[in-house]
Amino acid sequence: MARPLKATIDLNAILHNYKYAKKLHPTCKAFAVVKSNAYGHGAVKVAQYLDKEADAFAVAAIEEAIALRDANVVSPILLLEGVFEGDEWSVCEQNGFWVAMENAQQLESFINSGVKIEKIFVKLDSGMRRLGADKTLACELVSKLRESGRVGEVLLMTHFACADDVSDSMTMTQLSVFEETRREIGEIQASVANSAAIMKWAVPEGGWIRPGIMLYGISPFVGLTGRDLGLKPAMTLTSKVISVRTLEQGERVGYGLSYEAPERHQLATIAVGYGDGYARHTCNGAPLQINGMAAELAGRVSMDMITAKFKDTSNFLEMGQTVVLWGENVPVETVADAAGTIGYELVTRMTSRPRYCYLVDSEIK
Ligand SMILES: Cc1ncc(COP(=O)(O)O)c(C=O)c1O
Repeated sequence: MARPLKATIDLNAILHNYKYAKKLHPTCKAFAVVKSNAYGHGAVKVAQYLDKEADAFAVAAIEEAIALRDANVVSPILLLEGVFEGDEWSVCEQNGFWVAMENAQQLESFINSGVKIEKIFVKLDSGMRRLGADKTLACELVSKLRESGRVGEVLLMTHFACADDVSDSMTMTQLSVFEETRREIGEIQASVANSAAIMKWAVPEGGWIRPGIMLYGISPFVGLTGRDLGLKPAMTLTSKVISVRTLEQGERVGYGLSYEAPERHQLATIAVGYGDGYARHTCNGAPLQINGMAAELAGRVSMDMITAKFKDTSNFLEMGQTVVLWGENVPVETVADAAGTIGYELVTRMTSRPRYCYLVDSEIK
């Protein structure tokens, strides 16, 4: 018998969410953002499944793009952080990779490389102050790339710092810096929107949107789940109860004995821990489901196990009962909240330890 922890990824859900993003902006093309192993969902499997539908994929860097080509993914792939070293340019040309560019060194190495690239996205720093050229340099990069005659199309992109907060005016400020730069350049296609902007902000018509977290059915907004937004959660993390005991009132549990039974009740030990990606700092009371009923974490998360109890402790715990750690009826966003983090981090930090299983039309692929 194998350890019962399993991450089930519904590929139909990811396709649904991709189509949903495009439906919100019918004039735009869409990158499916599959960086960081498709936010922990398995980049190769996700990209292979979306390959016929997606306009293009976006990854952080060349290693991630090569892994997709090695897996016979044929759609264009954008390197969101561009190239780090000059010898990457020839690999980009050979593999048809598209490249983001934000600095003069990247321009120089491109000019020296002699390669032809189908699309280069000049990245403007419109206010996030993390990556991107200022307005003057962005205009210069665009004109030099065009003059080189070796780029099929030069586009202008930016990234928002606060699009997940609809009350924050920073997104409007960034949009106006972007539009001002665009006017200075003249005719140029735009790419500005991450998931939050796709769902809640007015973004430029035409050009390219870049949905990431929403593809996986997870909300970028505090207090809202993917389901609240019309998305289908893609990952369900399940395990089983591997031991059951009864605690007397006042008995304490686990490392640091951080949980104390307020009354006599049963306690389940479940096969999942921080060695699998279940965050160690998830607090007592974090939601989960056992045997289809509401349960909560009771005790500190260990490397391989957690302990939990039913919310209604009159329910009966038994070994072998199925546990949903997140997924249907247990939104990953609420578990993330109990761990003081965001859904992005919980899924992305999943390790290779659980069994991964991919569903298409409810059948295992
Ligand atoms: C440049 C860029 N575009 C798009 C995305 C996708 O963002 P989200 O997952 O919030 O949709 C990211 C993610 O960090 C990014 O760095």
